[in-house]
Amino acid sequence: MELWIAPTPAAAVDRVARIVAAQVSANPTAVLALPTGRTPVAVYGLLARWQREGRVDLRRVRSFNLDELVGLVPGDPRAYAAYMTHHWLRPLDIPPAQAQLPAVEGDLAANCAAYDDAIHRAGGIDLALLGIGENGHLGFNEPGTPWDTGTHVSELTDSTRRALVSSFGTLDAVPWRAVTMGLGTILAARHCVLLATGASKAIIVARALEAEPSTTVPASALQRHARTTVVVDAAAAATLTPRRGA
Ligand code: PGA
Repeated sequence: MELWIAPTPAAAVDRVARIVAAQVSANPTAVLALPTGRTPVAVYGLLARWQREGRVDLRRVRSFNLDELVGLVPGDPRAYAAYMTHHWLRPLDIPPAQAQLPAVEGDLAANCAAYDDAIHRAGGIDLALLGIGENGHLGFNEPGTPWDTGTHVSELTDSTRRALVSSFGTLDAVPWRAVTMGLGTILAARHCVLLATGASKAIIVARALEAEPSTTVPASALQRHARTTVVVDAAAAATLTPRRGA
C-alpha cells in the first residue's frame, strides 16, 4: 500500500486528481469506479478545471458509481444520480450513457446482477476512487460485509445514516438502504485510490491502515490489495503512527 500524506486538503485533492488524470491520459477510455459524498467534490472540480485548460480530456471515460440510495423518487436531487450529473457529467462534458449508477427501481437483486455484469463486460475497473466512512465503509459496504461480495443491497448503519442527515434535514428522512458495488468488485479493481481528508477520518484511517485487516473495518481489506494508493491530508493522518507519517 502506498501512502501519501499531504499537508492540506487541497494538496491531497491535487494528488488524487493527478493520479486520475495520469490514468486517463494513458487510457482515454479507462473504466473508473467513482464515489459520491463530500470528499470527492473538489477532485471532480479540479479535473473539470484541468479539462477546460486542455491539460486532460476525460470525455471518453466510462464510470460505475460505487452506490445509490434506495427509496428516493426518480429525479430526487439528493440521489447520487443527480450528484453525478452536477459534479461529473456536466462539468466534464461526459455523455450520460458512459456513467452508470446502480439501478434502484424494480427488482433490486436483478439490478445488482446486471450491474456486476456490466462492469465485467466493460473489462473490469481500471481505477477505483474511494472515500471512507467514519465506520470504515467503502461504498456502502458496512462493517461485517464479506470481502468477496458483488453488488448488493446494503442496510445502512446508524453511523452512515447520521452522516447523511446534512443532506436530508432529519434522520427520519434518510434512506435505510442502498445498492452498493461489493467489496469483491472493488478489490478486483486494478488500482484502488482512497482519499480521506479532515480530522473526523483520523481514527478510522489509522484502523484501516494499521490494524490487522478484518471485516469489522471494510477499508482494511485494501491492505491485501495488490495496488492501493492512500492519500490523506495532515488532519486525517493525525492518528497514524509517526513511523508511517514520516
Ligand atoms: P464523505 O463520505 O466524503 O462525505 O465523508 C465518505 C464515505 O462515506 O464514504
